[in-house]
Amino acid sequence: MKKYIFLFFVLTTNVSFAQKFKNLAPTPPMGWNSWNKFQCDSINENVVKQIADAMVSSGMREAGYQYVVIDDCWQIGRDSAGFIIADAKKFPSGIKALADYVHSKGLKFGIYSCAGVKTCAGRPGSRGHEYQDAYTYAKWGVDYLKEDWCNTDGQNAKESYTLMRDALYKAGRPIVFSLCDWGLSSPWTWASDVGNLWRTTGDIADAWDKGYGKDGKMWGGSVLMNLDMQRGLEKYAGPDHWNDPDMLEVGNGGLTVAEERAHFSLWCMLAAPLIAGNDLRNMTKKTIEILTNKEVIAIDQDKLGKQGYRIVDRQDFEVYMKPLSDGDTAICLFNRGDATKEITVNWNDLKIGTNFKLRDVWKHADVGTTSTTFKASIPKHDVVVLRLSK
Ligand code: GLA
Repeated sequence: MKKYIFLFFVLTTNVSFAQKFKNLAPTPPMGWNSWNKFQCDSINENVVKQIADAMVSSGMREAGYQYVVIDDCWQIGRDSAGFIIADAKKFPSGIKALADYVHSKGLKFGIYSCAGVKTCAGRPGSRGHEYQDAYTYAKWGVDYLKEDWCNTDGQNAKESYTLMRDALYKAGRPIVFSLCDWGLSSPWTWASDVGNLWRTTGDIADAWDKGYGKDGKMWGGSVLMNLDMQRGLEKYAGPDHWNDPDMLEVGNGGLTVAEERAHFSLWCMLAAPLIAGNDLRNMTKKTIEILTNKEVIAIDQDKLGKQGYRIVDRQDFEVYMKPLSDGDTAICLFNRGDATKEITVNWNDLKIGTNFKLRDVWKHADVGTTSTTFKASIPKHDVVVLRLSK
């Protein structure tokens, strides 16, 4: 009898310890991730520390960026008890010390693993070690976990990610959970109670429209392709559960300034997570200006949490709309074409009321009201973003 009472106690206390954390990402997470720029070979603890410093000195922290996330290649093996080991050559002080450093800058710390037996770069994945890894991450002070999907033969995405989620709950530390199965299992249909964000595409690249016009398949791989793959997904996003069209390529050199402005604006219209992917230690003034434009960021971070969507598609001219809190609306006029477009917006055509004031959030200027038509000259691949308010 005593044995059963003990068992009952253990079971019930275990359940009550597995606390759920709500409200970890009431607005889309903002931060930086090492992958787009540093990939596998160039990431190490000094880079991560300097990036954390630069996030503060560049004004990015002040603009809302919070998470400093190490992607693949920090891990090298497991010890005899199965605990994950960091690569001591690249991270000689250990991950806990690095997390402490990032925290000392008033920032949060994120890490990467994979639901499979190995990560995409062939490092140890979390398969079979979920609870052990979650415990380790919590002990180190991790605040954000990106969980990839390589080497997962025979695994079910919902089951695998739910297992890791439960392990994180059990570990007892609030950790934002970022799913990365590239949209293969349509995570938007099942993951709102599992992850705080989920990738909807394959990997973005530092390219404007790569991948189009070849085999017609959409996988991701450029700003335009990742953008187009968000269509129809807007109804699945909201506070604590965001569609993730992948990290930013602003500042990585492959886009023109107009394209960087468009990329950033469109991600904000989509209520996408804003995870910078460039070298924050060496940014041009233009890059800083784009990444820290508070009026544009406010559209992304609006507390209503609605993902914007396309309302006009006309010969390489598109209009995106995002409802905002307090009755405001964001409108993005997007010239996808290869020449400057002279555009005239008739607000009645867009079925937007007449009494809105217009604010150009790139010019930081009030530019009229919706009671008259709006005219603009938009260079190729560029945007005009307006905030409409009463
Ligand atoms: C996958 C992910 C990328 C990155 C790499 C790391 O490709 O989609 O974002 O994490 O793995 O190996």
